[in-house]
Amino acid sequence: MELVNPTTALEKTAKAPAGRPAALAFVTDAESEAVLQGAFLEEAPGAVLRGNIIKAVQHLSGARSPHILVVDISDVALPVTEVHRLADVCEPGVSVIVIGARNEVGLYRDLLQAGVAEYIVKPLTPDLIAKALSTAVHGVDAAPISRKLGKLIAFVGARGGVGTSTMAVNLSWYLANRHARRVALLDLDLHNGVCSLLLNLPPSSGLRDALENPMRVDSLFLERTMTPHGERLFVLGSQEPLEEDLQFPAKAIDNLVEVLREQFHYIVVDVPRLSSAVSRRVLEISDTRAIVVDQTLQAVRDAARLSQVNGIDGRERRDLIVVNRQGETGRHALRVDEVAGALEQRLRCIVPFQPALFASAGARGIVPVEQKGHFADAIGALATEISGQPTPRISRWRLFR
Ligand SMILES: Nc1ncnc2c1ncn2[C@@H]1O[C@H](COP(=O)(O)OP(=O)(O)O)[C@@H](O)[C@H]1O
Ligand SMILES: [Mg+2]
Repeated sequence: MELVNPTTALEKTAKAPAGRPAALAFVTDAESEAVLQGAFLEEAPGAVLRGNIIKAVQHLSGARSPHILVVDISDVALPVTEVHRLADVCEPGVSVIVIGARNEVGLYRDLLQAGVAEYIVKPLTPDLIAKALSTAVHGVDAAPISRKLGKLIAFVGARGGVGTSTMAVNLSWYLANRHARRVALLDLDLHNGVCSLLLNLPPSSGLRDALENPMRVDSLFLERTMTPHGERLFVLGSQEPLEEDLQFPAKAIDNLVEVLREQFHYIVVDVPRLSSAVSRRVLEISDTRAIVVDQTLQAVRDAARLSQVNGIDGRERRDLIVVNRQGETGRHALRVDEVAGALEQRLRCIVPFQPALFASAGARGIVPVEQKGHFADAIGALATEISGQPTPRISRWRLFR
């Protein structure tokens, strides 16, 4: 565990999260722009920008998504492909209204299938847009893009000390900063959680409150209680007195996860070793369980037992083995192929043991994965496994913005 550098800790908390706009439109012509500006004044406050859906994709890769998004496809060669791209960069809970010039049933059907709430053929009129906005607001359930929910990734260690918290924190940082995803990091160890510390943040509080009063959890509660790290990573944990015995029913976590799934692309959970009803529930409802092991017989045996904890029937879920601290004990360790054989899995996520990197990152007040190198590459491979996507090449203008 690294020591906290108090100055960086303060600097990092100073930045408040940017809010989510109610509505946003990208249109290519002045006429549509005027109609939308009028409609936004009446129906939903929002900004109208000049540009087509491609510009919208660029914009939303780096900014918060609005609740309602209007995009123009008039001059776009492959509109349905662009809608899929848009769905990929949008946060959960966005209703998309598409406007365009072509009046074709086939296109209309394809766009609805791709998840848009409504397609309007130009010229835009106040009536048409008012109707579409009201469908988008009230009929959200009908539009798949808005129903796209964040994924729950549970990190659990086969043994203590294998680096479970380290993997959870570094992966969260990577998804937030290299994949530009919104990430909620939950530290379920209410007594000895280290996630905030590893991010050089002050101890987070609020998770206990969320578990004690699940019905009070809503987006406002989260905005107040989660600790931001940069623009896209938010931590929720607690630091409760060691002598207090905290027990919550399994369902206490359900509402929290449900609300988080609507606001974040990923909910990464650091699941503590000591099993509790809430931890078991997280393992049950997660989309991916990342089981962290080192190259020891004990870890491999416990990982095999962990992967037998069942999920909820009918829910698609997968287990991913992460081998951490590779190379730590040299030739006394099990070989990676032996670990793979024992667990009957191909191992794609192997993270090197790099104590010097950890020491220097700690001294500089950064997370080890921020430093380019073998460790960051390994976490990148883990992010690719989890997201199904390679690390995006970030363009220069975004790096220097
Ligand atoms: N790949 C690694 N290289 C070097 N040190 C590591 C690595 N992974 C974890 N550590 C160190 O190992 C210790 C235990 O890690 P931690 O994440 O707290 O383990 P766990 O959550 O499994 O108990 C910490 O001091 C951490 O800095
Ligand atoms: Mg831990």
